[in-house]
Amino acid sequence: MDRKWWQEAVVYEIYCKSFCDSDGDGIGDLRGVMSKLHVLRDLGVNCIWFTPIYTSPQVDNGYDVADYRNIDPAYGTLDDFKELLDMAHGMGIRVIMDMVLNHSSDECEWFKESRKSKDNHYRNYYIWQPPKEDGSEPNNWGSYFREGNGSAWEFDETTGEYYLHQYSIKMPDLNWEYEPLRREIYDMLNFWIDLGVDGFRLDIFTRLKKPEGFPDTKKEPDPLLDRNGFIVDTTMCTNVEGIHEILHELYTEVFGPRECMTVGEGAGVSHKNALDYVSASREELDMVYHFELSSRRTYSISADHFRKIQSEWAGVIKNNGWAVQYLSNHDSARQVSCYGCDSDEFRADSAKLLAAFIHTTPGTPFIYQGEEIGMVNVKYDSIEDYNCCYTVGDYNAMIASGVSPKEAIDTLAPRSRDNARTPYQWDATENAGFSIGKPWIKVNPKYKEINLEADRASDDSIFAFYKELIKMRRENPAIIDGDLTFYLDGHEEIIMYSRACASQTLLVVANYSGKTVKFDIPKEIMDCAWTRKLTNKKDTDPSLDSLRDLLPWEVEIYELVK
Ligand code: NOJ
Repeated sequence: MDRKWWQEAVVYEIYCKSFCDSDGDGIGDLRGVMSKLHVLRDLGVNCIWFTPIYTSPQVDNGYDVADYRNIDPAYGTLDDFKELLDMAHGMGIRVIMDMVLNHSSDECEWFKESRKSKDNHYRNYYIWQPPKEDGSEPNNWGSYFREGNGSAWEFDETTGEYYLHQYSIKMPDLNWEYEPLRREIYDMLNFWIDLGVDGFRLDIFTRLKKPEGFPDTKKEPDPLLDRNGFIVDTTMCTNVEGIHEILHELYTEVFGPRECMTVGEGAGVSHKNALDYVSASREELDMVYHFELSSRRTYSISADHFRKIQSEWAGVIKNNGWAVQYLSNHDSARQVSCYGCDSDEFRADSAKLLAAFIHTTPGTPFIYQGEEIGMVNVKYDSIEDYNCCYTVGDYNAMIASGVSPKEAIDTLAPRSRDNARTPYQWDATENAGFSIGKPWIKVNPKYKEINLEADRASDDSIFAFYKELIKMRRENPAIIDGDLTFYLDGHEEIIMYSRACASQTLLVVANYSGKTVKFDIPKEIMDCAWTRKLTNKKDTDPSLDSLRDLLPWEVEIYELVK
């Protein structure tokens, strides 16, 4: 099979604000990233994804872009970015940028112009609608962020019309129906490609197209999401007919000819419609990451669900598509706290087991900063210490409905996006070695025990395990090309699967639980000879037969001896 570089890659997501601060202002920056690139090279990743680092008022930590062609001064300059690109490329690390194409900041020049008058050149860059006869909002859509009266429309006095904002009032939606806007975007994407970036992660790309006529949603209000009668309906602007034309044009105008990689944030994408976006013949995107394995609401994955979703996505790959493997990112809580066990006893083992899943199931693994040292969730006592707009918005709504501050925090903390956004824990010095200044968000107090330096001091570190997995990807064709077969269907704790290609068969066996589990190894597996390649329980018997007893959070990778 002719592989693309991004199928062989291991991507590492950098949330720049929290990665490493070089100048002591408490905000991570590009020079900080440069100073740590050697760590990523050592880890073995060959692609980094930067969450948005463009000029931004930071209402949504950069997903509100004010200048699409510049770097936010808090992170550095365009020259710093060029230097970083050269440095990364020199180390064999590609760089992809987050591209926010659904909305901009209201501080973007385009919007400042757009709101000036109805005949402004930029008016149609955004989505403007007149009020209803009674002066009210054009429809009953609620915005994702809890702001104002809850509507997804904001009235602008200057021209007497409303503009659409699916997210914050300060993040107006762009109008993809308007060709000059599309051309502007294509030029801007080419600007970054000309600088040398290797691809883009497309923020909520499924929501670029809006339904014609902006009809009311018929969805019943959800008490959790209700906003004064304005209803948050995630389906309304997702996968709307016409979205494929937009993406195909993006491909033919930019991504295809420039041979740049694209990975979309697939809100509303499942194994059922994934091929419409990522089948190579569609010429839209290279891959999308989906929310079928876990959602921000549930944060739990049963063994059966894991088998089902992985099998379905393996089908997507077989049909000429591709998949992303990840368990957390900047929008979620920490994976070891959600799907593993973050107690002292099992944190390292379960972090390694989850890593093994991501790196041995079909698709491209995406690592989120800190997971390679087993960083865990955080809990602050006061809402003042939280930054995420969802957490703060939901907190205020809960308080207004009579919930006590403690109960509100107890409810919201485990799934707050801030869990993933605390500063990277480099060492046990003040502020975890992230900054000599006051960090923009509090450091996780666990940093004294959990940090890169402490982790790497052990020859059995989580970091070293990730390194091994990444190395295995380079050396074992079955990890990229192998067919996926699950065994022990229905087993609640043991997850067992093989990856087999013409030249190799690998077997992964994991005890996805905190207790020792006895089980019968399927006969067809026992009939073959296997050699152990990797384990997270070093002193155990390496023979497959010994696995009749699997220790808590034990994971083993074997290769078939031919
Ligand atoms: C998805 C991003 O990952 C998230 O952080 C952001 O808040 C929304 N899109 C809006 O851009």
